[in-house]
Amino acid sequence: MKIAIIGAGNLGTGLAKHLVRGGHQVFLSFSRNAEETARSAGSIGAQSGTPSEATVHADVVVLAPPWTAVGEALQQAGPLDGKVIWDCTNPLNPDLSGLLLGTTTSAGEEVARLAPSAHVVKAIPPFAEILHGPPLPPGTPQPSTFVCGDDAEAKRVVSELVSVIGAEPVDSGPLAAARFAEPAAMLLVHLAYRQGMGGRIGARFFRVP
Ligand SMILES: NC(=O)c1ccc[n+]([C@@H]2O[C@H](COP(=O)([O-])OP(=O)(O)OC[C@H]3O[C@@H](n4cnc5c(N)ncnc54)[C@H](OP(=O)(O)O)[C@@H]3O)[C@@H](O)[C@H]2O)c1
Repeated sequence: MKIAIIGAGNLGTGLAKHLVRGGHQVFLSFSRNAEETARSAGSIGAQSGTPSEATVHADVVVLAPPWTAVGEALQQAGPLDGKVIWDCTNPLNPDLSGLLLGTTTSAGEEVARLAPSAHVVKAIPPFAEILHGPPLPPGTPQPSTFVCGDDAEAKRVVSELVSVIGAEPVDSGPLAAARFAEPAAMLLVHLAYRQGMGGRIGARFFRVP
């Protein structure tokens, strides 16, 4: 698939590595340092450019900027009619101590309001420390990623990509379920960066039949 990543930071580059390895054509974009992004894209076999260059031919648009830059990112992307948006953002406040919105709406639903003609799927991936780090030791359970969306085909596509990055997709129902998935991811941020556990952590969902 052709995949545009908007947000070429820790998460965006971590996702890009796995998606390129999985055989996808990846285009990194939306950085204030185009040279650095071009260098890191080149080193992993991806392309780089502006958000509109990235999205124009993309099948899937991965949204990975800080929450506060989402409006600007989508504006720079231009029309996203009919595209699948894999929204990875968590609406964290700048000191990572909490969420700027939640439980009565979600970042996922706000993205859908900003890009009404796209199919938005919320799926917050494992931490960049896991994506960039050495492979997990044998026997470590795959981290789970809750996948929320209103379009079945878009959810299927994003779930496939979640598997490519080494996580287990968990179908969590409609996009509005992002109201609960985002605070769940916030708990991991709290454990990693405020309780001192570090970013090599994840959570595993299981269900007894
Ligand atoms: N990191 C993780 O482990 C992780 C895991 C799950 C979800 N997320 C979510 O993914 C998103 C990105 O996180 P991250 O850790 O990758 O952040 P990051 O490393 O700070 O990367 C953000 C990217 O957005 C770019 N950007 C462009 N315009 C910007 C602006 N006006 N203000 C700020 N940034 C701008 C940055 O550009 P520059 O290169 O110029 O800085 C950078 O490439 C967040 O919503 C976060 O909640 C992150």
